[in-house]
Amino acid sequence: MNKWLISLSLLSGVVLCSCGSTNNENVNPNTDVNAIVVYFSATGNTEEVANMIGTYLDSPVYELEPVDRYTNEDLDYNSSTSRVSIERNDPNRFVELVNTDFEGFDSADYVFLGAPIWWGNLSWVIEDFVLSNDFTGKTIIPFATASSSNFNVENLKHLSSEAT
Ligand SMILES: Cc1cc2nc3c(=O)[nH]c(=O)nc-3n(C[C@H](O)[C@H](O)[C@H](O)COP(=O)(O)O)c2cc1C
Repeated sequence: MNKWLISLSLLSGVVLCSCGSTNNENVNPNTDVNAIVVYFSATGNTEEVANMIGTYLDSPVYELEPVDRYTNEDLDYNSSTSRVSIERNDPNRFVELVNTDFEGFDSADYVFLGAPIWWGNLSWVIEDFVLSNDFTGKTIIPFATASSSNFNVENLKHLSSEAT
């Protein structure tokens, strides 16, 4: 597997907050985080991390599946004519997802949102999910996998200004 880049500090923060709110009583942090884990994964790496987080937090894990799934050919970032290269340069791109409405979303305080890094950003495949839901009062905790890059969440922020 490629190097994992998970926002572990944020994950720890959630767990610590959870412990702190109980005045250091001996609690199991796994069951104190009201969270769901939502991810897109084209080749399985992010899925593996999503499942680890879901298992640790004992939270439901949901996959974001494009209606039109990406083939290996589609993912060829070295080709200027591949699907990802064309979408990357298309300001009007929209990747429709099979489902954006997940059980537990409304009551979740934390939404762990994962995707692979594509050209330094979280893959745009998550956009349909972000745009289709109201994140008011929720904290989005992004996580990602990549070959080597760090990442930023600038492409996420403008999509969901109501979230923390
Ligand atoms: C279109 C595309 C762009 C990518 N861009 C980057 C990048 O900018 N930096 C990086 O470190 N890895 C990059 N990668 C590698 C993926 O981020 C990495 O393989 C990731 O773990 C794939 O996750 P997945 O298996 O969940 O799809 C890119 C991969 C693809 C397909």
